Amino acid sequence: MTTWSIDPLPVPDGPDDPGLRELAHVTNAVDRELWGSDDFRRTTRELLESLRDDPYERHVVLGARDGGALLGYALLHLPRRENTHTGALELGVLPEHRRRGIGTALHAAALAHARADGRTRLTASTDQRVEPAPGTGTLAPPTGEGLVAADDAGVRFARRHGWDLEQVARYSVLDVPRDGDAAAREHVARLRADAEAHAGPDYRLLAWSAPTPADYAEQFAALQTEMSADDPHAGFEQDTQEWDAERVRRGEQTWAAQGRALLVMCAEHVPTRTLAAYTDLLVPDEPGEYVHQYDTLVARAHRGRRLGMLVKTANVQRLVDELPAVRRIGTWNAEENRWMLAINVALGFRPAGGSGEWQLRLDGRGDA
Ligand SMILES: CC(C)(COP(=O)(O)OP(=O)(O)OC[C@H]1O[C@@H](n2cnc3c(N)ncnc32)[C@H](O)[C@@H]1OP(=O)(O)O)[C@@H](O)C(=O)NCCC(=O)NCCS
Repeated sequence: MTTWSIDPLPVPDGPDDPGLRELAHVTNAVDRELWGSDDFRRTTRELLESLRDDPYERHVVLGARDGGALLGYALLHLPRRENTHTGALELGVLPEHRRRGIGTALHAAALAHARADGRTRLTASTDQRVEPAPGTGTLAPPTGEGLVAADDAGVRFARRHGWDLEQVARYSVLDVPRDGDAAAREHVARLRADAEAHAGPDYRLLAWSAPTPADYAEQFAALQTEMSADDPHAGFEQDTQEWDAERVRRGEQTWAAQGRALLVMCAEHVPTRTLAAYTDLLVPDEPGEYVHQYDTLVARAHRGRRLGMLVKTANVQRLVDELPAVRRIGTWNAEENRWMLAINVALGFRPAGGSGEWQLRLDGRGDA
C-alpha cells in the first residue's frame, strides 16, 4: 500500500532549517551508500546555496514523505540564460525504501515540472564505484568510450524510464604527495619543470583564491565561456554559456556563501597580457582530507605547449603548501577526453569509478 506522498519542499530559511538538515541527511545517505565514503558529502550551507534561485538557474525541490520522515528527493536544476530547453535532475531514495515505486513517483513529478516549464531535454547521472570490464552485462554510450553495468540500480531505473546513455565519465583520485613521499613530490616537480621548459619564457604563472582580481575578471570570464563550449558534450544538446565579469562575480559569491574556497592557477601569455590557461581546486565547506578538482582549460590559441600540465602541477604544489590536511584530489572527466585524461594519468590520478551520463528527450518517445 502506498503510504507516501510527493510534495515540493518548503524553501529553507537558513543553514539550520530543520527541513534542509533532513534533506542534506538524505542526499548524503544516498551518496554514502553509492560511494562508501563521505567525500561527496554536502553541508547544509552548500546545499542551501546550490538550491537558491539566481538569474542563471532556478531549482525545483521535491520530497517523498511517509507522513513524517523524508524518504527521497528530486532536485531539478533549470538554467535561465542559455540552455533553457534543458534541466538537470538529481534523484535519490534512501536505500531501505527502494523498490517501492518512490523513485518512479519522484521522477514523474519532476518531469511534470520540467514539461510545464517548456523543457525538452533532461540530464542525469548514475554513479558507479568501479567501471565494469568489457563483456556481457555492460552498456556503452555512442561515444564508444567507457562502460556502465547494465544491472546497476540507477542504470536499470534510467533505461526503464526511457533515458539514453550519452557518455561515461571517469572519476579519478590523486593521493596528494606529502612530506613522507619524496618520490611523488619529485615526480610532480619534474612534470612541472618539463612543462615550463616546453611553454618557454613567454608564459608566467598567476595564482589567486576567489574572488578573481578585477583586472582579470573579463579575461577569466572569456575562459569560462570557452570551457563551456569545449568541455566534451557527446550527444547532449547544449548551448555555450556566455560568461562576463558579473557572472564570474556571482558564481564566486555563491562559492563563498557555501563556505567554499576556490584555488585558481592561471598561465598568462606575458607579451600580450592574455590569460592562456587556468585550473581550479574547490575546497569544501568544513575542509577535510578531500578537495575537488574543478575546471581545467587551455585557450585554443595556446594549446600544444603543456600549459595544462603546467597549471595543474603548480596548483597541486600550492595545495600541498597551503592546505596541509588534504590527502586526496578527485576529478571527473569524460572518457573520450583523452587529452585531459593523459595529463591526469601522467600526474598520478588513478581510476576510482565514474558515472553514466544520461539524456531524456521529453518531446520524443518513451519518457513514461
Ligand atoms: C535509482 C533510484 C532513485 C530508484 O529508486 P526506487 O524508489 O528504488 O525506484 P522504483 O521503486 O520506482 O523502481 C522503478 C524501476 O527501476 C528499476 N530498478 C530500480 N532499482 C533496481 C534494482 N536495484 N535492481 C533492478 N531494477 C531496479 C526496476 O525496473 C524498477 O521497477 P520494479 O521494481 O517494478 O522492477 C534509487 O535506486 C537510488 O536512489 N539510487 C541512487 C541514486 C541514483 O542512481 N540516481 C540516479 C537515477 S537516474
